[in-house]
Amino acid sequence: MAREFSTVGVVGLGTMGAGIVEVFARNGIDVVAVEISEPALERGRVTLTGSTDRAVAKGKLAAADRDALHERVHFAVGLDALHSVDLVIEAVPEHLDLKQRIFAELDRVCRPETILATNTSSLSVTEISVATTRPNQVIGIHFFNPAPVMKLVEVVRTVVTAPEVVADVEALCARLGKVDVTINDRAGFIANALLFGYLNHAVGMFESHYATREDIDAAMKLGCGLPMGPLALMDLIGLDTAYEILDTMYRRGGRDRRHAPVPLLKQMVTAGLLGRKSGRGFYTYERPGSPVVVPDEATPLASEVTLADGARAITKVGVVGSGTMATGIIEVFAKAGYEVVSVTRGAEKSAKVCEAVKTSLNKGVVRGKLAEADRDAALGRISWSAALDHLADVDLVVEAVVEELSVKKALFASLDEICKPGVVLATTTSSLPVIDVAMATHRPADVVGLHFFNPAPIMPLVEVVRTIRTSPETTATARAVCAALGKTAVVCGDRSGFIVNALLFPYLNDAVKMLEASYSTADDIDHAMKLGCGYPMGPFDLLDVVGLDVSLAIQRELYLELREPGFAPAPLLEHLVTAGYLGRKTRRGFRDHSHR
Ligand SMILES: NC(=O)c1ccc[n+]([C@@H]2O[C@H](COP(=O)([O-])OP(=O)(O)OC[C@H]3O[C@@H](n4cnc5c(N)ncnc54)[C@H](O)[C@@H]3O)[C@@H](O)[C@H]2O)c1
Repeated sequence: MAREFSTVGVVGLGTMGAGIVEVFARNGIDVVAVEISEPALERGRVTLTGSTDRAVAKGKLAAADRDALHERVHFAVGLDALHSVDLVIEAVPEHLDLKQRIFAELDRVCRPETILATNTSSLSVTEISVATTRPNQVIGIHFFNPAPVMKLVEVVRTVVTAPEVVADVEALCARLGKVDVTINDRAGFIANALLFGYLNHAVGMFESHYATREDIDAAMKLGCGLPMGPLALMDLIGLDTAYEILDTMYRRGGRDRRHAPVPLLKQMVTAGLLGRKSGRGFYTYERPGSPVVVPDEATPLASEVTLADGARAITKVGVVGSGTMATGIIEVFAKAGYEVVSVTRGAEKSAKVCEAVKTSLNKGVVRGKLAEADRDAALGRISWSAALDHLADVDLVVEAVVEELSVKKALFASLDEICKPGVVLATTTSSLPVIDVAMATHRPADVVGLHFFNPAPIMPLVEVVRTIRTSPETTATARAVCAALGKTAVVCGDRSGFIVNALLFPYLNDAVKMLEASYSTADDIDHAMKLGCGYPMGPFDLLDVVGLDVSLAIQRELYLELREPGFAPAPLLEHLVTAGYLGRKTRRGFRDHSHR
């Protein structure tokens, strides 16, 4: 029989604590909510009221249930109020000495059978537990932000946590409607160990002016389907908390430089820019605690790029290539009203591409997304050719041929001879340096990267890659074209992986390393990222879809460019590729897909 928890205590009513109080009270459990001072207590009360009022306004909670919820919460200053609760969960700032002090005090105040839990994100639960005389009753219960919304709870057992305490807490999580993964005490557990290297890297990109905050966030939302971008997430987590988590993970987790907090973070914390809770972090908020972003001096004036920015008028577009990307890009341009010249290496290939574009447009008609007349008009705008000479009078060329530098360079040298002056020459490369391609021409200022995502007609994002030689007019033209295509353009520098792949693949690689270290299973890791962080797919689901060979190649490029030891491809990934387990396309990758 699992233990009954009728009253729990929550210590610290900040970002996490207030949400945790709500979770318990919503599920019929009485809560003693404790803070360090009256003003802090009042802040916690306001947070709880705000959150439950929003839930009522959204129709997710009945007004009567909200009132009952509030009646279950008893607010108090000081730990003495916790003398008769069944379980305490601590959510004070991420400092070991503070948590140890609080646990020693809780040990004195609480009944001998009370379970003492910490919501720490990165500190050692074991070290916290030894501050008490009951380390076997100490456990980690790691909720995710916002606690009332995120389904996941990481239950952290130390080497001394009693098995029945683990079982009781697992049963409690189920009662709260949460999904738990139970793991050992390691810095960052599952989700944060995978998340924070990525978040820190995104802050580094912002700090080095590689891309704007809006573009970094839009890239990860639209390119990976994440619920929010990394910088907005840092603001939600709280920059002080994020700093402490990174710092602890760096020290506890083998001094991986990717966890060494980017200097800007410390500066922002010192300056009081803590994120949403202080009203300002990477973004500015309506008021402290508000989720509403308001414009500030860094907000781009207007997302529309006009001819005044130097964008050139584009009416006719050449697309070179006959693969998946070229086919999708031809369709995107033709549907948006551009005249398109498709160039392939022969009539046979042209016929194939033409067929593929027709099939895709027809699908749109069948699904009711495209009128027959619009399909016919789009097809009427495309001409099919096997000769580059037909690109003599286009305004923009988009190259989507095989991902080999020598091939692309030769092509750009030819385009340089054929195309009229002022044409924008774009490459869709996902891994080669755009500058190498640009320097194959005598007009590097006109060369830019246009990194579409697959499938191009569906994915809303395009990365516009400017090299150190790309002119502002060329970048403006590329952005204006993306806007006319109905895509969101993000502008970034010419570095391996651009924004999306540079942030995504090291995270996937880290997940492989975690599996390799037998810390957790592929299923639990996937669960943790989906339910704890709102990712549409877990890392192993995604690796099997993308292809392990493709992932390994990208990871190698990133490693070679940055020489960051933490980017070294996981040996397990290399072995699976060597063994021919490439993912869904070979019916076996991290998972066996032969029966699905
Ligand atoms: N922010 C997140 O996204 C997140 C997610 C999961 C876990 N966590 C973890 O939760 C814990 C709390 O983080 P947070 O972001 O909510 O911090 P926070 O700074 O928002 O809130 C901490 C609260 O603790 C209170 N406090 C400080 N000393 C106290 C004391 N002696 N007694 C009672 N209350 C005290 C403070 O007044 C404050 O309200 C940390 O261990 C953190 O790592 C944070």
